[in-house]
Amino acid sequence: MCGIVGYIGNRDIESVMFVGLERLEYRGYDSCGMALVDEGKIKIIKVTGRLQNLKAALEKHHLSGSVGIGHTRWATHGSVRKRNAHPFTDPEGRFAVVHNGILENHVELRKKLQAKGYKFTSDTDSEIIPHLLASNYKGNLLQAILRTVKHLKGSFALAAISADDPDTLVGLRTGSPLVAGIGKHEYALASDPLALVGITQRMIALGEGEVVVIRRNQSPELYDFAGKRIKPRIVPIEFHPKAISKGRYRHFMRKEIFEQPTVIKNNIEHRIHNGRISLGSAFRFYSEEMEDFESILIQACGTSYHAGLVSRYFIEQFCRMHVQVEIASELIDRTSVFDNHDLMITISQSGETADTLAALRAARKRSDLLKVLSVLNVKRTSLDRESDSAIYIHAGPEIGVASTKAYTAELFALLTFTLELARKKRTLTSRKLREIKTALAALPDLMAKVLRQDRSIREIARRFQKRNSYLFLGRGANYPTALEGALKLKEISYIHATGYPAGEMKHGPISLIDSKTPVVVVAPRDTTYGKMSANIEEVAARGGQVIAVGTAGDRELAAKSAAFIPIPDVPDYILPFLTVIPLQLLAYHTAVFRGCDVDKPRNLAKSVTVE
Ligand code: M6R
Repeated sequence: MCGIVGYIGNRDIESVMFVGLERLEYRGYDSCGMALVDEGKIKIIKVTGRLQNLKAALEKHHLSGSVGIGHTRWATHGSVRKRNAHPFTDPEGRFAVVHNGILENHVELRKKLQAKGYKFTSDTDSEIIPHLLASNYKGNLLQAILRTVKHLKGSFALAAISADDPDTLVGLRTGSPLVAGIGKHEYALASDPLALVGITQRMIALGEGEVVVIRRNQSPELYDFAGKRIKPRIVPIEFHPKAISKGRYRHFMRKEIFEQPTVIKNNIEHRIHNGRISLGSAFRFYSEEMEDFESILIQACGTSYHAGLVSRYFIEQFCRMHVQVEIASELIDRTSVFDNHDLMITISQSGETADTLAALRAARKRSDLLKVLSVLNVKRTSLDRESDSAIYIHAGPEIGVASTKAYTAELFALLTFTLELARKKRTLTSRKLREIKTALAALPDLMAKVLRQDRSIREIARRFQKRNSYLFLGRGANYPTALEGALKLKEISYIHATGYPAGEMKHGPISLIDSKTPVVVVAPRDTTYGKMSANIEEVAARGGQVIAVGTAGDRELAAKSAAFIPIPDVPDYILPFLTVIPLQLLAYHTAVFRGCDVDKPRNLAKSVTVE
């Protein structure tokens, strides 16, 4: 969480950094600010709230200078107030710092600095850093940073500038992401390459424990924390500016929902050639290793966790293997869980989710034998670096905080991995494999067909927009879809919503049913249909209003429901790709009707880099 930028070059620093911050606003939007070195002084502007407030402040007091840093905050230590907004300076105002992450030993360091007479003006852990820099500075910013970082414990990235060194920008990472953009006579720092699109064409993705020093008109220098020079690995920035604009859509979330058929189409082109599956060059498991996998542990958070839950059905059905799926943040203290598995699959859109990373590291400590496969959207991230093998989902930048296209792309990656595993383990006949691949080829058109119901789903959202509580029910692989539908609705429309396995209703939650609580049922005609129908009757008998996602032509279900959303009749392994779309649209339209900020819901950040 929190976004960092920095810039040194010939363009207007304030405008370049503002564009960078706009692209990073998904990482937090509690407050924001900028600091520039101008004629031997550090000038700072910071505000609470969104970037539009910063824009207004900059219109009144334009900042210019030779080098600058900027920040957009997701509050951890210290409430949402101007005094807790970044950048921070030392008491003399000679150093300015922006920080993303957490300093675990900030209380102890604060006490030590206070004992030396340093005065603090904020409640944050971050303010310690410029104070330490000031106390460690002996004329060289890099050396001061290296001395400072020795005192800091935690997981973070930061960028710093000094009034005494107007042509230098320094950044470092340990735990949180940071990239250094390289242009023609201009250089930038950012928490995410997205912020650099259209500014620089190439970049260095800093590794763990690396510091970058950028001096005006010189190639960036990379060091480890011991001060040893490292050869930088320069790579191109792959995103196109079009991929990060809303285009004709009102919100990124809507654009991303509608991109799903194209994303899956691209994935089919990437992954299936002449009937053979290719999992990509980052997939590095040998056939023999795959044959030997006996038990799989899947761990992830939020929407990616739901993709993991769906994939359990794929793997159990097609590979006949034991699969355990866990929420990453709940795994860390259950170390014996790691003993019984030989493959861990982590799933993450961002590749930087702190809980998922922590669970991966806990597993590494516990077991030498466990192999890690990560299913990721963003390459060269922490999870990517720390995994044995990866599958990229090629969803393109996902900017709306609510994850949509990454979810169906994760499902696609997990299903194709399952098919490869089944082929290696010979648990599926070649005929069945062919049949599944043929069914997959039709997926983009089927998804587009479901999307064409946008208007009628909008109408359902309009009818139910004022309800304060929702239940989402499903059985089997439809249960994770119900969970995902509930998560989408609550995160962007602030309506209380709970996903539940339909069979569990009678063990308690059925008491919640009344005429005011809409019950969304994911009830296509699959193997769970019979029992699901009985559960729907139970809801209807108690006056519950059912919104059903069911198979086209299912008149019986439509008759029992207050609203019916038909999806095409497809094999069970195709269903999760389709049934989720109406739920994404329902959440989207409901949030719009309720006047919520769809792309930046309150209290949330896209990339959750704190545990
Ligand atoms: O980047 P990741 O996939 O690891 O993120 C995991 C969750 O934080 C994420 O899916 C979150 O739940 C979304 N906001 C849900 O829409």
